[in-house]
Amino acid sequence: MTLIPGDGIGPEITAAAVTILEAAGAGISWERHDAGEESIKASGMPLPPATLTSIQRTRVCLKGPVTTPVGKGFKSVNVALRQTLDLFANLRPVKNVPGVAARYGNLNLVVVRENTESLYSGIEHVVVPGVVESIKIITEKASTRIARFAFDYARVHGRRKVTIVHKANIMKLSDGLFLDSCRNVAARYPDIEVNDVIVDAACMKLVMNPAQFDVLLLDNLYGDIISDLASGLVGGLGVTPGANLGETCAVFESVHGSAPDIAGKGIANPTALLLSAVMMLRHLKDEACAVRVEKALFAALEEGTARTRDIGGTATTDTFTRSVVSKL
Ligand code: NAI
Repeated sequence: MTLIPGDGIGPEITAAAVTILEAAGAGISWERHDAGEESIKASGMPLPPATLTSIQRTRVCLKGPVTTPVGKGFKSVNVALRQTLDLFANLRPVKNVPGVAARYGNLNLVVVRENTESLYSGIEHVVVPGVVESIKIITEKASTRIARFAFDYARVHGRRKVTIVHKANIMKLSDGLFLDSCRNVAARYPDIEVNDVIVDAACMKLVMNPAQFDVLLLDNLYGDIISDLASGLVGGLGVTPGANLGETCAVFESVHGSAPDIAGKGIANPTALLLSAVMMLRHLKDEACAVRVEKALFAALEEGTARTRDIGGTATTDTFTRSVVSKL
């Protein structure tokens, strides 16, 4: 499989995940490839062709976070990876993790984010100095495809309701097309309840009473924002995993970024990346190994020996790793 250690805390948490997967007997051999800032230092390119070719060949990648410079510099490697490999569905389960204190208990919802278009098209230009135009692309094709993914996911995983999140009251054409496309798909799934909420109200409802949601279906920008918000409901960015899924390839990564504020300090929480690896094992139909890793992680978190600072403990990334391995 392809492994991208990434930037910031990426190399620390990917090393932890690789050690734990090995101890769990996952039997994975890795092709290590660069992306992001570290890659620029090594090869001058943020996303070298060899990294893409490797994922196209292995079809499965575990990826650490990569840094994107703010307001300048190279374009987001994440966006480029998702667009180039057509990883159209971003799946982010938001679930309580045993042993991790959270604002809500028994939360179990799923964020389904369209991953290839919207304001992440990257098309923006200066009209005249002081005026900038950013172009939001919404297509019926991509909106229909992500809606089908969400409703199929709901059906296969026994979920009862899909909520379409949008801002079609203001962006009548673009979000209007997203909403209409999703509603058209919903009509073909009479067994799944559907409703829609305007994105600002969705934020408030999520904070006040998140249990009213089951599957959230959003475009790229709203999905990005709402998944960070939702991760805060179950203990923070350190514990929420994710998957970027396409027809041919899949890239598994946590919701969080490269956390430059704690990089190199040995205190990053590998839980989110490890849970992404568990999603990867399930994608590979290795349920037995997925369960082994999950059980060991949850036991170590409940005991407290794997609880890092972000979730109220004192464990370092190293003690986290040793603690989960000892449970295995
Ligand atoms: P961030 O997610 O890296 O960090 C936000 C806060 O959460 C920080 O205080 C950080 O210390 C904490 N945090 C995040 N992950 C943690 C973990 N595993 N353990 C303990 N604490 C953790 O978001 P930020 O600072 O906005 O972005 C930093 C960089 O990451 C930016 O360049 C951004 O573009 C990039 N990024 C990359 C992503 C990816 O590769 N998929 C996703 C999101 C951001």
